[in-house]
Amino acid sequence: MKVTDMTFKEGQEFKIRVKCNSDSNSFAINIGHDPENIALHLNPRFDFGGDCNTIVSNSKSGGCWGDEERDMNFPFCRGEECKFHVSFNMERFYIKLPDGSMVDFPNRLGDVKYKYFHVSGDARIVGIKIK
Ligand code: GAL
Repeated sequence: MKVTDMTFKEGQEFKIRVKCNSDSNSFAINIGHDPENIALHLNPRFDFGGDCNTIVSNSKSGGCWGDEERDMNFPFCRGEECKFHVSFNMERFYIKLPDGSMVDFPNRLGDVKYKYFHVSGDARIVGIKIK
């Protein structure tokens, strides 16, 4: 699911709620400029690519993935709704997970404004807000 006509700027808070499928293996929240240039790919994996109950984060620049980061805190359940709060500055993204814990990831594209939002994999968007 793609979201258009929204701009996410440094210092703002992006809130997104998604519903995971009951047989979800993996889903991802992508924020960036376009499908080839993604500043934040936040990818909870229930069971995908050899990862179980792990959040894989990465960025994509000019179509090439960067280095993955992994987080073993996994507050997600198949079939349930989950809420993320994302904010960022030129250096980093800060993501609050459904249980209130935080993960962060470097803002490797280094921009202060992003307009591309895409939820991929086994989940759908329930709500979005930028403030
Ligand atoms: C790949 C996967 C992509 C993306 C990427 C992140 O293995 O196919 O969807 O998650 O890892 O590095």
